[in-house]
Amino acid sequence: KNLAVFVSGGGSNFRAIHEAILSGEVHGRFLVLVTNKHDCGGARYARENGIPVIIYPSTKNEPEGLSSNDLVAALNTYKIDFILLAGYLKLIPSELIQAYPNSILNIHPSLLPAFGGKGYYGQKVHKAVIASGARYSGPTIHFVDENYDTGRILAQRIVPVLVNDTAEELAARVLRQEHKMYAEVAAAICEERVIWREDGVPIIRNKA
Ligand code: GRF
Repeated sequence: KNLAVFVSGGGSNFRAIHEAILSGEVHGRFLVLVTNKHDCGGARYARENGIPVIIYPSTKNEPEGLSSNDLVAALNTYKIDFILLAGYLKLIPSELIQAYPNSILNIHPSLLPAFGGKGYYGQKVHKAVIASGARYSGPTIHFVDENYDTGRILAQRIVPVLVNDTAEELAARVLRQEHKMYAEVAAAICEERVIWREDGVPIIRNKA
């Protein structure tokens, strides 16, 4: 499958999936990276690996960025099958969601629907989990709709919250599972093992 990835930060999830592609675990390829920050770690890694970088959206800081219609047109030229959001902090425009129905995934570092939504990003998620006294957290991969963190859940992993955890420690423990889970989900997507149950719930079939 032809994949696009959207990144705003370090891009460790993108790297984990890219490495799984290189090792033959994921039968896909990244044809393009989209970012709102041209110099973020993810964008630099893409350039180092010969993956084209598109800036979106256009802002005062990123005047060379595209409009949403141009973004859809650019992705169409790459014949993208799936879009993976990996630490992309901007809302996805509705033009893109309509152009790629059930084909955009996001990863979030909490067990959604808990600790999701606009205010919950980065360390804020883990701080809120610790403050709540929850004993478990973990990443969620979900399909993307027009709001933050509300689309159908596809995969989750459980990670313990330890008694004296700092947000950094919990974030690191969750992130290790994110990398494994996103690579496994990307493999399932590329092998067409994601199926939609009659009631609209997406399920990953095990390898035959
Ligand atoms: C991850 O924790 C992800 O769940 C969240 O943003 C972070 C991105 O990390 N959406 P990285 O850029 O992949 O290292």
